[in-house]
Amino acid sequence: MEKLVITGGTPLKGEISIIGAKNSAIAIIPATLLCNGICTLHNVPNIIDVKLSCEILEQLGSKITWIDTNSLLIDNRNINKTHAPLDLTSKFRASYYLIGAMLSRCKEIEVGLPGGCNLGARPIDQHIKGFEALGAVANLSQGKINVKADKLVGTNIYMDIVSVGATINVLLSSIFAEGTTTIDNAAKEPHIVDVANFLNSLGADIRGAGTDLIKINGVKALKENVTYSIVPDQIETGTFMLAAIASKGDLTIKNCIPEHMDSLTSKIIEIGGNVEAYGDVIHVWSSNRPQKTVIKTLPYPGFPTDLQPQMGVVLSIADGTSIINESIWESRFQYTAELNKMGARITAQGKSAIFEGVSHLTGAPVYATDLRAGAALVIAGIIANGTTEIYNLKHIDRGYENIETKFSKLGAQIKRIVE
Ligand code: UD1
Repeated sequence: MEKLVITGGTPLKGEISIIGAKNSAIAIIPATLLCNGICTLHNVPNIIDVKLSCEILEQLGSKITWIDTNSLLIDNRNINKTHAPLDLTSKFRASYYLIGAMLSRCKEIEVGLPGGCNLGARPIDQHIKGFEALGAVANLSQGKINVKADKLVGTNIYMDIVSVGATINVLLSSIFAEGTTTIDNAAKEPHIVDVANFLNSLGADIRGAGTDLIKINGVKALKENVTYSIVPDQIETGTFMLAAIASKGDLTIKNCIPEHMDSLTSKIIEIGGNVEAYGDVIHVWSSNRPQKTVIKTLPYPGFPTDLQPQMGVVLSIADGTSIINESIWESRFQYTAELNKMGARITAQGKSAIFEGVSHLTGAPVYATDLRAGAALVIAGIIANGTTEIYNLKHIDRGYENIETKFSKLGAQIKRIVE
């Protein structure tokens, strides 16, 4: 068993470079299935979820090579299966992107019902609604889903809920559909734009990604070769910004996109932190105790749910009482019980939590309950008095590349120990 051991109390200082976005990479890797040729991807995060995505594609017939630590060469000329391995696909959420991609490529796919972080009920009804509107038939039974179509025909699809996954999945399934498809009430997250840019660079005709109305004019085929670089990770950027504020540190965050961070930047300034952005660099620092605030998570460009736990750590030591309303996931406050073990005073009920700010946290053994909860506990360990041990690292490793190496370069006393 592995654990992270952190001796807290050092303000983080220095420069850090952000890697490609996890949520883009795990959509773009299955999206390469639309290319009957070779895709070279750069700025790929070297994390468990990416490796799982690659393993699943390999089982379908892809040949995948890491050409360096953060670059992949994916050869999809010999896809020869339409049934993805159930044990692998049911391990993580984004395996559902295989459905949209393989519907486009082979008109059929069978996968295990998607797993992933336990953040509450995670239905895929909007994905299925989109596939069926395009002419596919979906069957769910015994923990798997089979989707097939004789042909896919463009149509107007209105999403009842703003869903990142459904927007990308329906986009993937509509690229070769006859005529025009529109996705109304689409999600607008940066990785949706990234997937659309990737597909357009292969010759797809997608317009409006990043707005709530996406229009796809069906094309007959895509190019057989593309080189693409994945957008920097918005959530890793935000994790380091919040770590700087929580630790009263001073970080220069490179290779990021400051515009993607607007909702977080304005909250950081509101609670007394400092943020300056120039080009692809964010400078963030603080020397004061954070002030209280009220936050509601929302789809982009609102405050991201995936930064809610990291912000929760900051508010646990703020001056005054703060409130977070979580509007996306019903079980996203599991980390608050772990923070309370470290001396925080947080009362979570349903989709709201009240943070009575304490002067400091104290190190304790804690468990990462999901990916972003794990990142929040790392920040908590860095600012706590004494030693924190974090268990259940499999969650953190799903989405952060070398988290302990990155934080120790910034002055944190953090090491991974194999017991
Ligand atoms: C993605 C991110 C996840 C992030 C979330 C919200 C990936 C791999 N994961 O998850 O990190 O927390 O966006 O920014 O990119 N819903 C339905 N029916 C559906 C689909 C979704 O009711 O068919 C609901 C969900 O239960 C949730 C909300 O819509 O309450 C948003 O979910 P969605 O945007 O789809 O999240 P994911 O794509 O799963």
